Amino acid sequence: MAGKKYMSDIHLEDYTAQYETPLADSKTMIFETGRERFSLNGTWQYAIDQYDTCLRQKWFREIYKDAAGFTLPVDYSFDTWESISLPCSFNVKSERLFLYEGPMVFTKKFPYERKDGRREFLRIGAANYIVRVFLNGVYMGMHRGGSTPAFFDITDALKEENRIILVTDTTRRPEQVPTENTDWFNYGGVYRDIDIISVPDTHIKDFKICLVPDGEYDKIKVNITLSKPETLTGTIEIKELDVKENISIDKGFGETVILRKPKLWSPEEPKLYDIMLTAGRDVITDRVGFREIKVKGTDIYLNGRKLFLKGISCHEESAVNGKALSDEERRENITLAKEMGCNLMRLAHYPHHENTARLADELGMLLWEEIPVYWAIKFERKATYDDAENQLVELITRDYNRASVIIWSVGNENADTDERLKFMSSLALKAKELDETRLVSAACLIDGEKCMISDRLSEYLDVIGVNEYCGWYSPDFNMLPRLMENSHPDKPVIISEFGADANPDFKGAPDEKGTEDYQAYVYEKQVDVLGKTDYIKGMTPWIMYDFRCPRRTAFIQGYYNRKGLFTADKKYKKKAYYVLKRFYEGKF
Ligand code: GCU
Repeated sequence: MAGKKYMSDIHLEDYTAQYETPLADSKTMIFETGRERFSLNGTWQYAIDQYDTCLRQKWFREIYKDAAGFTLPVDYSFDTWESISLPCSFNVKSERLFLYEGPMVFTKKFPYERKDGRREFLRIGAANYIVRVFLNGVYMGMHRGGSTPAFFDITDALKEENRIILVTDTTRRPEQVPTENTDWFNYGGVYRDIDIISVPDTHIKDFKICLVPDGEYDKIKVNITLSKPETLTGTIEIKELDVKENISIDKGFGETVILRKPKLWSPEEPKLYDIMLTAGRDVITDRVGFREIKVKGTDIYLNGRKLFLKGISCHEESAVNGKALSDEERRENITLAKEMGCNLMRLAHYPHHENTARLADELGMLLWEEIPVYWAIKFERKATYDDAENQLVELITRDYNRASVIIWSVGNENADTDERLKFMSSLALKAKELDETRLVSAACLIDGEKCMISDRLSEYLDVIGVNEYCGWYSPDFNMLPRLMENSHPDKPVIISEFGADANPDFKGAPDEKGTEDYQAYVYEKQVDVLGKTDYIKGMTPWIMYDFRCPRRTAFIQGYYNRKGLFTADKKYKKKAYYVLKRFYEGKF
């Protein structure tokens, strides 16, 4: 067959092996806050590529003639494909796309003007689950992980006129993090910003700043990492604190401690300072708050004062935009939580957009951030651990300077097995190694047989998260007081989930599961018992608003998880909302 070589792809089996590296991961990240960016947001062309033919046939090479100059038939025409505006959750853009999970190809052409002595990084805010990048026919690499940013150095492939191709794959797989089984909707595609960030050859690759957590509140620590092992002197400026200090950077690393007593950040007074850092030809800015979060015994202290975490859990979702929330929607979520009397939001079960933490810094809301080590992960598989740890390090690297973030959670509801203990204790130790300024937690299961909190992972946590559904999945409410009496934790416990479904349209009897009355009754019983248990230092009930969930088909659910205190459109507050609000108002 004349095109035998050309059609060789149809016999290829392991066609992705050639696309497993280079890998964009925590090591390819650069510090991006306050930098100029060339946005690639906007109109792209796309195709649903169910059989991954773009990768199999290498569409990105755009070969239209054979060696003898004859025109070849091709199975794509990038410029005539349908258009879509990125970033977005394509699922909510059309009926045809709603339930699609699998490979999709996005492409656009753009002009770019390179400048000498600079590196150009493509930053994809998030793509679910795998994204592979091709620029002008050259494979740039791939990123794995559905909720953290990916950085690719595209400098050498850039031209004046460019064609970029993003091949995403939203397929759920047992070896991924999360696996193929979760309790939320698997939104796909490229759903956070896409930018090109231009930096000097030698640039600031990482910049960490924090209040030294020694209980004195008078030392600001700064860590700088350059992209090259160069030795130079940097400068840090915090005008409002009258700080302008040199920092010596030796072979690419610099650290200094500045003696100052900044006004401390708190949800009530979210004080932020403008920072500028210069190193060689590179200048970056950030806007940070200074605070200390600590655990002593079974108490949590913010800036030296005991604290009860009056929280609520939420997924990153809106009925209209899926996972690709607008900043207005993020602001609305935080504002609604504050109105409910919350000082903490649990951003379940994966890293939310970086702007959520920025807005929480500005508006004054503490955050629990989490990686999706959710339910039955392949704990025995090293590549799965590497994926989970990379997502954790990418999250910590991205949000380290956010005062609002006080807890890194290494997962949710995992059976207490030996493999899981090794996997998740390693993640907890990694988080502590990278960040001495935050607490490490996880949402653990209770021991149903013993009716007590006894997860072996607790030893590695600063705060024990506990999911319990007394009154719902465990209908006998008497279990809750027993659980509290049987447990004797030596560190603070946050009830990271309790709740009940309620559909306002279901006007059943008050004691019927699925009614607002029953949900409110569950909340009343829960806060009554939890409020009296001294080692319970917080709660993040499940959940702020109803959310899409393919597992939920009961008559009151309709492919939604209805445990929200708000309906999915956030326009209606269910009766249980007022129970929690009253409890928080009375809780100090
Ligand atoms: C689990 C899980 C949530 C889930 C919830 C529920 O605890 O952590 O992701 O949505 O319970 O069953 O509604």
